[in-house]
Amino acid sequence: MTIHIGAEPGEIAETVLMPGDPLRAKWAAETFLSEARLVNDVRGMLGYTGLWRGHRVSIHGSGMGLASLSIYANELIRDYGAKTLIRIGSCGAMQAHVGIRDVIIAMTATTLSTPSSGIFRELNFAPHADWSLLRAAVTAAEARGVGLHVGGIYSADVFYDERPDLNEIMTRHGILGVEMEAAELYNVALRHKVRALAVLTVSDHLLTGEALPSDQRQTSFGDMVEIALGAAFPDA
Ligand code: HPA
Repeated sequence: MTIHIGAEPGEIAETVLMPGDPLRAKWAAETFLSEARLVNDVRGMLGYTGLWRGHRVSIHGSGMGLASLSIYANELIRDYGAKTLIRIGSCGAMQAHVGIRDVIIAMTATTLSTPSSGIFRELNFAPHADWSLLRAAVTAAEARGVGLHVGGIYSADVFYDERPDLNEIMTRHGILGVEMEAAELYNVALRHKVRALAVLTVSDHLLTGEALPSDQRQTSFGDMVEIALGAAFPDA
């Protein structure tokens, strides 16, 4: 047990999928895993462990924002031995050619600040995805025929942003979408020499104001879970 995770040692798999929303972790575990078992519910942050095509997988919520994800990623890696962490979440599109429901795989994530900023100090560190996972995720996404974009994203540290110029700068520099967790996942994973990736569904569009209807969110989320599992276990 850690401060934020109630699982016993050995109850978390080496591969962990991390949706922001704990109820999405529950849905994904019950839908895609066999023998799924609840292993954490501290503070309502649900984590499950089960099997996918014979491979052990955990699906554990990260909460919203870089700070919340940082707590769970640190404990999953340092205390439970997680070796592959894949964020599955939603993002807002920042480019005209990116559509609602498309999938974005993040090569790298730009930030203003993260919980790791104190370590990097004056450095503008470029947190990046694990190449083997990214390549396998692209293969899995192409096999599913989803609209796919691979590139840089923006991990914002505030949702209610009083600086709209930042979004404009991101769009001008080719950033595909905005979310609030991936950069710190990559920072923490790189620090501890484990693999990380963020696979994101576009749920809203910052340029057009479009949003994914709530009844379609589950389907898009399901695609992402399958892409993430395919990336983690390419030979399964
Ligand atoms: N901003 C930040 N995070 C998000 C957004 C957004 O517009 N959409 C989905 N996650």
